[in-house]
Amino acid sequence: MKDKTKVIAIDGAAATGKSTLAKILATDLGYVYMDTGLMFRALTYEALQRNIIHEGGMDHEALLHFLSDSRFDWKNDQLALNEQLYGDEIRTLKVSEEVSNVAAQEVIRKFTLENQRRLAADKNIVMDGRDIGSVVFPDANHKFFLQATPEVRAERRWQELQQKGEQVTLNSVLENVRLRDKKDSERKHAPLKQAADAILIDTTQKSITDVLDLMKSYID
Ligand code: DC
Repeated sequence: MKDKTKVIAIDGAAATGKSTLAKILATDLGYVYMDTGLMFRALTYEALQRNIIHEGGMDHEALLHFLSDSRFDWKNDQLALNEQLYGDEIRTLKVSEEVSNVAAQEVIRKFTLENQRRLAADKNIVMDGRDIGSVVFPDANHKFFLQATPEVRAERRWQELQQKGEQVTLNSVLENVRLRDKKDSERKHAPLKQAADAILIDTTQKSITDVLDLMKSYID
């Protein structure tokens, strides 16, 4: 699927530490980092802005139309959707509440899969997501699957939101984490699933440095 360049796949549920680890690993190895969750969040954010997602439903025609006019590209090693870069506006609880429904749509998965493969094609890359090792790059050079208890993950995400000034309760974040786990792992297309040859790491009681050292011991 990919000839000379390398892929490191880091999959797992929300707030298991994937993106923090993937970013450091990419910097240390001199690889590019691709946050595939950003794609689903940016698409969800745009769908909300355009009223494609609204109270009680989704306008499939409008979604198809939007996707046919859209593409992701690299802009200074950051993912841009139709030339636009995204920040904290796609990390709100509102976007998190909608994103799993968007990510379950077959048209969305086809769109993101094509974009992910095209943008990774000629690069040494660390990718984090849910289905990188199982679907996007089943031949990845290294595959890791991270897990941690929902309580610890919710606490981490809640701290992040607090720091950004979003006033939400720990309980609402825990509920969102549980619901997304369920939706992401039960969906029909490319569900959250450990690839048979992925290395499982539980990050509940481990520091970032511990997990990083462990990953590197497999990569070396
Ligand atoms: O990693 P994250 O929490 O930013 O991801 C947001 C959502 O996007 C997640 O709930 C499921 C979806 N997602 C996906 O379906 N496949 C991926 N490869 C990455 C994310």
